[in-house]
Amino acid sequence: MTNPDAEYQSCIQNSERVSWRLDELLPKETVIDFSRRILSDSITGTEGIGCLSAEEKLMLNQIRSNSYAHLFLFLEEYAVALAAQRAGLELHRNQTHMRALLRFTEEELKHQQLFARYTAAFARGFKVAPGLLDNQVAVAKAIMAKSNLGVLIFNLHMELMTQQHYVETIRDNERESLDPLFCNLLKHHWLEEAQHTRLDFLEAQKILAVEPGGVEAAMNEYAELLQALRGTLNAQLELDLQTLEKASGRTFTEEERKELFTAQERSYVWSFIGMGMKAPLFLSRLRALSPVAEQRVLALAPQYYCN
Ligand SMILES: [Fe+2]
Ligand SMILES: [Fe+2]
Repeated sequence: MTNPDAEYQSCIQNSERVSWRLDELLPKETVIDFSRRILSDSITGTEGIGCLSAEEKLMLNQIRSNSYAHLFLFLEEYAVALAAQRAGLELHRNQTHMRALLRFTEEELKHQQLFARYTAAFARGFKVAPGLLDNQVAVAKAIMAKSNLGVLIFNLHMELMTQQHYVETIRDNERESLDPLFCNLLKHHWLEEAQHTRLDFLEAQKILAVEPGGVEAAMNEYAELLQALRGTLNAQLELDLQTLEKASGRTFTEEERKELFTAQERSYVWSFIGMGMKAPLFLSRLRALSPVAEQRVLALAPQYYCN
């Protein structure tokens, strides 16, 4: 580790520089434009589905985008717990580390409020009330039952995945003419996540300095968390298909359902799991923690469509 105190201080300074206010980014009475796609098709995977009309593909893109916003709110429930717990460990110890971790905690709470406000605006304007998972507290508690090192590695994956989505599918993709409101929201989320990824790494290094042998157990926990995440994504996918049926007024045949489920499962797994695992910064950060950690991710990758 170079100079950890300087690293934590630099996270605070960057966080102060890019910080935004919720009411300015997404005013309460925001109206969503439903005339165009919200997220890139490379995240929603709707364009290649043969049994849907163009209008239904657009609808599914919008349903998936709303679920995407909700899944961040959902997953940030454990991130708040993790950051708060790490900050608490620095009480009466290192003020700089504690400040950086408290900002991390506060930002994740703000992000949850941002995504809740977005899904509320979506529900006001969409044809039907979208189905969204509501067991985030139970899931956060199950995640936090793992070791801090395992959860920090999982969180590093999630946060670098967020960045990967922004860089690969939004920042350079104006030609898709996606909804500018959602792109702007993800840009601002990404700006604050950049500090979180550095803090995940610093905190993981801190743990490994005390328990250098903890990597293998932490990577087993990471693998278990990915499996659990897959289950959560499938549960949200079921709700997405119910919302699509209601909004389109159709009842899908068994064959159509199979096509929809297969295409959407692949898309969910790739965007939330594969894209995180293959993020170059995720692999290089793990390698810096321990070559064993990077090897484990590469071994797990094929089952999540990253060959
Ligand atoms: Fe966040
Ligand atoms: Fe974060």
